[in-house]
Amino acid sequence: MSGSPTMEPTAYDASIPIAVQAQENKRRKRRIMKIAVYVMFGIIALGVFAIWLFHKDSVESIRFNANFVFTVKVQTLEIKTDDQEGLLYGELGRNIKAAPFSSCWDADAKAYEPNCLYWKHKAYLRVSHDDNVTGSCYTLSWQGLQSGFIAEDCFYLQQYNWYGYLLPDEEFWPIQGIQVGKHGIIYEAGAAIVHLTTIQIDEVPYYSRYPEQQQVNLVPTWFGSQGIAIFVHSSYPFTISWNNTEKRQFCITSELEVLEDRTEEEGGVDQLSYTICKGKDLKDVYYNAQKHRHSWEAELKKTPHTIEPLLWPLHAVMSRDDIVPLFAALRSNRSRCSFLLLPEEWETRFGDMQFDQLLLQELRGLMSVTKETGCGCVLPISTFFTFNSRLFEEGIENGYFLRDELNLVTKMVRWRDREGAVLDATNPEAVHWYLDRVKLLLQNSSYNINALKLLHIDVPRDANFYDGNMTFLDYSRLFYRDASALLNVTLILEQATGFVSEPVFVSLRTEINDVHDAQCFNDTIPWALNLGISGYPLIIADGSELQKLPDVSVQLFQRWLQFAIFFPAFEIPNLPLLNNPDVVAYMNTLLNFRREIISYMKKQWTLENEAPILRSMWWRNPMDSTAQLISDQFFVGDELLVAPILCHPASERTIYVPPGKWETVRLDNNKTLIFDGPKTVRASVFGARLLIAFWAKK
Ligand SMILES: *[C@@H]1O[C@H](CO)[C@@H](O)[C@H](O)[C@H]1NC(C)=O
Ligand SMILES: *[C@@H]1O[C@H](CO)[C@@H](O)[C@H](O)[C@H]1NC(C)=O
Ligand SMILES: *[C@@H]1O[C@H](CO)[C@@H](O)[C@H](O)[C@H]1NC(C)=O
Ligand SMILES: *[C@@H]1O[C@H](CO)[C@@H](O)[C@H](O)[C@H]1NC(C)=O
Ligand SMILES: *[C@@H]1O[C@H](CO)[C@@H](O)[C@H](O)[C@H]1NC(C)=O
Ligand SMILES: *[C@@H]1O[C@H](CO)[C@@H](O)[C@H](O)[C@H]1NC(C)=O
Ligand SMILES: *[C@@H]1O[C@H](CO)[C@@H](O)[C@H](O)[C@H]1NC(C)=O
Ligand SMILES: *[C@@H]1O[C@H](CO)[C@@H](O)[C@H](O)[C@H]1NC(C)=O
Repeated sequence: MSGSPTMEPTAYDASIPIAVQAQENKRRKRRIMKIAVYVMFGIIALGVFAIWLFHKDSVESIRFNANFVFTVKVQTLEIKTDDQEGLLYGELGRNIKAAPFSSCWDADAKAYEPNCLYWKHKAYLRVSHDDNVTGSCYTLSWQGLQSGFIAEDCFYLQQYNWYGYLLPDEEFWPIQGIQVGKHGIIYEAGAAIVHLTTIQIDEVPYYSRYPEQQQVNLVPTWFGSQGIAIFVHSSYPFTISWNNTEKRQFCITSELEVLEDRTEEEGGVDQLSYTICKGKDLKDVYYNAQKHRHSWEAELKKTPHTIEPLLWPLHAVMSRDDIVPLFAALRSNRSRCSFLLLPEEWETRFGDMQFDQLLLQELRGLMSVTKETGCGCVLPISTFFTFNSRLFEEGIENGYFLRDELNLVTKMVRWRDREGAVLDATNPEAVHWYLDRVKLLLQNSSYNINALKLLHIDVPRDANFYDGNMTFLDYSRLFYRDASALLNVTLILEQATGFVSEPVFVSLRTEINDVHDAQCFNDTIPWALNLGISGYPLIIADGSELQKLPDVSVQLFQRWLQFAIFFPAFEIPNLPLLNNPDVVAYMNTLLNFRREIISYMKKQWTLENEAPILRSMWWRNPMDSTAQLISDQFFVGDELLVAPILCHPASERTIYVPPGKWETVRLDNNKTLIFDGPKTVRASVFGARLLIAFWAKK
């Protein structure tokens, strides 16, 4: 600072009168004071600016592109169409309260990471964009820094229809309301009962049960009718829930908590990662999601397989009692088969990897018939080893099994009422060891095995893996991948979990529900459609549940056949009524018709093996709002509409026939009926008309 304000007035120039000098001095003093005040203000302003600069959040919104915008301050994500119409709104990082945020600084690269947000001491959010899918898919990944932080993102369902499994026993095609009383709360208000179905996020663990007891095919993917797909393909455990109040939100919550605070240098804990794709409509977004998955799975892909829909049914040896009747049926040509499923307990003990010799004796005849009739044998395999099995010791010694949190193998898993160990599918040496034993069985010409059924094991979530980066969610995927590297083998999955990169058959058990006085299989079509859009086109209609019923009437079995023959493969239950000549004749009529369906199906499958074979009613016209609500009809390809009767006793039903020209399917070569949709019609299966199905007319 120039000139101190404390300077004394002295005569500094004798040639100038003192009075003038004094005046000069005063003016100078004032000027100095003025400057000082200005400077002070300047300093204060600078300080304020510095403080503001320091505390300023440098990003207001991340515009991943014009149609995918995250507004950081309010933590909302908005996905828009090219016409700027909102498709999806989300609240991201619901557990982050007001906290300073900025772009992520990459110390190594000495630059800000694009599309990365850093909440001071809390978490990172990274968004990656799949350029190969024309700007339609984004992957969001959370990393937590602060102990106790849990990533949770919620999305508004809005007025759209959503598809994808959510909670047990809830309708999901489309997702319907949660039933009150099960998870919801009921308030009494006078005489009326107010149903308030608020779902507490913490209390509705959907995926947290996966796969501790996975009873159904689970693939974590959800589709919204506005053209949105959300799917999780990371290995971090998570929970799915939804809020069925007016807020109608669907939430994905990480199950991995940050255990202790981490610094920026240490990096965050991977907590949650999932992908959102958008498209013009449901069908378009299905293809975008498929493309994205394929680019992600490219590294997993090994040998491409030629695998096709199967004309003849599958038969299963469920127990030893089935061997003689099956032998008789196949030998006499009363039945044909594409595959024969060998009994699941073909070893003396799980983990022997050798046939039980007594059982083999009994199976010999059946196996030779399959060879003569061009039917393959399916060997059911698991990665489970009971503690007294032949290979258990060897596996233990070499460290081939999963370990629990105490690093112990024994009594690790209970499976089919036995205790034992499970192969560590993340250990390449262990997998090699295991598959070598499978190969010995495949190569032994006395067995005629050319397919494997991979039995599902619920891997404990606290298991320790050889590859520490893997979790229980990776298990099935890795095991499928390695098994699919076995050449010339068809794979059948007992249960679908997550995504697979190879086309495989997957079993879909027909569950029979008691509805009033009827027996219905009303759940099978929604499951089939859901598997289809989850990337599993080759679905086996598995009728083995019928075998568990005390008494199956001819009509119930016929109803089942009437829809099972439209599946890419079907497994016939071993029922006593298969000895009834009328039933056999009926079955042969349907099987004859199936030749036509199969050749059509194969044509479709070669043309577009990216698409589901069994398709939802919205597939032809994804914007058809009536079609979006239908869960008891389906298309085979684009041209065959199937509307089976799903209950016994019942012989007629209502059918929604979408726009277009349609021709009724008749099995008796009598005149078919041609009519125009859209229409709602009633039809029955009386008389010669055995099926309710329609071909699209060109
Ligand atoms: C569910 O929505 C209601 C409002 O409709 C809201 O008060 C509640 O917090 C929401 N629950 C969760 C877990 O988001
Ligand atoms: C994008 O596509 C190109 C050509 O199709 C391919 O070479 C590249 O590996 C793909 N990138 C990713 C990330 O999949
Ligand atoms: C069984 O049927 C197939 C075709 O349906 C026929 O080729 C074969 O000769 C028949 N075998 C016997 C033993 O009847
Ligand atoms: C094939 O299986 C038979 C019957 O179990 C067995 O005796 C034979 O040793 C096996 N052959 C080979 C090459 O493993
Ligand atoms: C686990 O992941 C980390 C970070 O991605 C990587 O550095 C490490 O090599 C991985 N370990 C294995 C066994 O793949
Ligand atoms: C697989 O099948 C093809 C043709 O059916 C055959 O040429 C090839 O040798 C088989 N490969 C193995 C490993 O069995
Ligand atoms: C099938 O019927 C049962 C019994 O009425 C019912 O609980 C279930 O929701 C139905 N499923 C579908 C998909 O309609
Ligand atoms: C055609 O329909 C008539 C009456 O429904 C029936 O009597 C006749 O057997 C059918 N023709 C054939 C070839 O099934």
